[in-house]
Amino acid sequence: MNPLTGKRIVLGITGGVAAYKAAELTRLLVKAGAMVDVVMTEAGTRFVGPATFQALSGRPVWARIWDDRMSSGMAHIDLTRGADALLVAPATADFIARLAHGFADDLLSTLALARDCPLLVAPAMNRQMWENPATVRNIARLRADGVAILGPAAGEQACGEVGEGRMLEAAEIADDLAIHLAPKILAGKRVLMTAGPTFEPLDPVRGITNTSSGKMGFALARAFAEAGARVTLVAGPVSLSTPRGVVRHDVQAALDMRQAVMEHLPGQDIFVGVAAVADYRPAQSVAHKIKKSAAALTLELAPNPDILAEVAARPDAPLCVGFAAESRNLAEYAEAKRVAKNLALVVGNLVQDGLGGDTNAVTLFDATGAHPLPPADKAEVARAIVAYLAGLLA
Ligand code: C5P
Repeated sequence: MNPLTGKRIVLGITGGVAAYKAAELTRLLVKAGAMVDVVMTEAGTRFVGPATFQALSGRPVWARIWDDRMSSGMAHIDLTRGADALLVAPATADFIARLAHGFADDLLSTLALARDCPLLVAPAMNRQMWENPATVRNIARLRADGVAILGPAAGEQACGEVGEGRMLEAAEIADDLAIHLAPKILAGKRVLMTAGPTFEPLDPVRGITNTSSGKMGFALARAFAEAGARVTLVAGPVSLSTPRGVVRHDVQAALDMRQAVMEHLPGQDIFVGVAAVADYRPAQSVAHKIKKSAAALTLELAPNPDILAEVAARPDAPLCVGFAAESRNLAEYAEAKRVAKNLALVVGNLVQDGLGGDTNAVTLFDATGAHPLPPADKAEVARAIVAYLAGLLA
């Protein structure tokens, strides 16, 4: 389940131009199944109106301490009572300063004091304000108080300057919050993974590849990170953004993938081969473009090393997991692969429509037999695989 599903989030919006991103953030949190109570500072309401957040959250928006709509007359306590997190995005330099000093002079700052849920803050400000020693001091104080600081990112700013201080994108903040709230069932574990296709060059502009999208591998990397693992992802050529908290190394050919895996293998607890590694590569590497001619062209292919089998065969092998995408006889082929490669677990799926979809129906094969998982989107399937692996490790 998405860690945000069923969670009650109080979203604080202070007076920065990045408030427009908070509208998208509200939508994403609601879409993930969270109940969102928006609390705005007076300055926050100057940038995007409360009506926008009311429509997106489907709930009343709060801005004043003395608000008759709260039956107890205690909006400053009621809103964070039972909440799973207070997330302030955007958080201005001024609001961060007030938080750091424990001010309680409006509804949002009062809620930040009167809470027993985690506080997460996404700073949004001009780069000079972010670099100012006062802000640096305030941020350090908040961190020491256990407040999670999300970002900020570097880049072009609304004021025209370029530098650090701009608020993270809405999707990044939603991801960080999900990671923060997810149960840490793999805390402290180290996971190495491969994902995506490989690209085996024929000449400088051509090569052999396959249609692996990398989506399942990237969803799994994200689910591992959510579960508290330290994730290293060796990725073939894909157009996917790196999940939050994941360290990524891009490679092209199977031989590069193998080298990157071997380099990062020491100290890993789990290795998962999700990549659709090309079984063969062109036997010769050609430095210049192959010229067209009327004659037939025969390519000689050499077998690639099996990265997963090689890792699993090592005496110091981590817990090894493979994937098996088959067009028929799934159980038979997946189980044969598990035994032949000496794997703790094989994730098998039938591919009728090719690779690259957003949903997946998989069966887990381990020493105890076959365990089908309910069909779901790849994020959910990934979480279920991670939960199963945590059980295997324990
Ligand atoms: O044998 P097959 O290619 O079907 O096995 C698939 C599994 O083995 C996947 O987990 C894949 O990542 C891994 N594999 C590998 N290196 C190869 C071929 C497959 O790591 N050369």
